[in-house]
Amino acid sequence: MKTEVGPQCLPERRRSLIEDARKGRDPGSSAPELADHSVGFTLDQEGDKTMVTLVFTLRNAKNSGLSRAVKIFEAFEARIHHMETRPVRKAKNGADDLDFFIRCEVHSSGVNTLINSLRKVAEDVSATKEEKVPWFPRKIRDLDRCHRLITKFEPDLDQDHPGHRDPEYRERRSQIASLGLNYKQGEPLPRVEYTTEEIATWKEVYTKLTTLYPSHACKQFVDAFQMLEKHCGYGADNIPQLQDISSFLKERTGFRLRPIAGLLSARDFLASLAFRVFQCTQYIRHSSSPMHSPEPDCCHELLGHIPMLADKQFAQFSQELGLASLGASDEDIEKLSTLYWFTIEFGLCKQNGILKAYGAGLLSSYGELMYSLSGEPQYETFDPEVTALRTYQDQTFQPVYFVSESFEDAKSKLWIYASKIRKAFSVHYDPLTCSVEVLDKPHKVKEVLTQIWEELKNLSFALDKLS
Ligand SMILES: [Fe+2]
Repeated sequence: MKTEVGPQCLPERRRSLIEDARKGRDPGSSAPELADHSVGFTLDQEGDKTMVTLVFTLRNAKNSGLSRAVKIFEAFEARIHHMETRPVRKAKNGADDLDFFIRCEVHSSGVNTLINSLRKVAEDVSATKEEKVPWFPRKIRDLDRCHRLITKFEPDLDQDHPGHRDPEYRERRSQIASLGLNYKQGEPLPRVEYTTEEIATWKEVYTKLTTLYPSHACKQFVDAFQMLEKHCGYGADNIPQLQDISSFLKERTGFRLRPIAGLLSARDFLASLAFRVFQCTQYIRHSSSPMHSPEPDCCHELLGHIPMLADKQFAQFSQELGLASLGASDEDIEKLSTLYWFTIEFGLCKQNGILKAYGAGLLSSYGELMYSLSGEPQYETFDPEVTALRTYQDQTFQPVYFVSESFEDAKSKLWIYASKIRKAFSVHYDPLTCSVEVLDKPHKVKEVLTQIWEELKNLSFALDKLS
């Protein structure tokens, strides 16, 4: 099925990260209820523990009171990190009445029950849960753990997928997807020998889209596309290989590719951007529907996303979005996914006063690329505070597109937005070790500042020499 211009036509990849991010906020998946006055934060290393501070009074502590309380902590396998006691001011039993302050780590599912049990043996029980920062990768190899897939749009489960009733297609897709599932960081990227039918599908998409690029795509995209044709095997008769593209991007912007088996969860996908890693599918859409795919495929990734990743400003913008996501709350992940949607997927920019496309969802969709620049939709200036709250459209073309003055401008705005995200720490990416450092202590900030100061000194010397 081919699409023509018009909002009634099926758009390119409609499944967004936002929908997934929203799921992370479902009431069913939230932590147990507790008097939630957060004090400090805990980096989640294990995923199922909560740090709780308990204050309570025990009467007759030296007799039965203490042993009953201890048994409760034992029963819930609470790991006590800190404990203090002091005599109660208005004691009924003299020195036997004690106030307790205990900071302990408990299985998240048992927190409320532990508190209720404690209330049966102690008085004035109050509990404070420490904010738990969701786990995030610190080293590039940690991306091996960032592989949570959203499978409901795959042909096996989605009855509307063009390949749903084609067992041969499903088998082939699954075979290629398994390359991404089994991949480990540092290994060479797997090469796929595409079939004649797959190349024919690619050719149809490639031929049609490339007619629009000179007039509709931004300059950075057009320039990069020419280089990809020259250096990475881009062409109507060849589906390029991830390894070749990854090597090219690494030299241009430090971005690298990683094979993935399907649509990735919002948190995992954004986290990979923090390391300048773009997770990329390798299978191709069904031949019966060359101009539409309900899930990301190599046409969307290689034609829509890759060229922009060869631009330094855009690469920096993508990484900033990724860094902002590390350790962010589910609510903030949803907002960042919305920003991703309206920029990296469906963003427009102004060049010499003319609107051009840079979003991958547009540049891999003939119909929506035409529509987005037709003057029919609404256009608004990109403003992260506003854009992050906008409702996205996944059934038809976007009613509104956000326009960036430049990637430099978009990056500055995003940086200001990200700095306001409520987190108890900042992160710093070290490109030498491809790792993320958590800046939660003054000495860590000082160390990074020292490194930057050395760099500045070198640049200053270089400037002196030139002048
Ligand atoms: Fe995409």
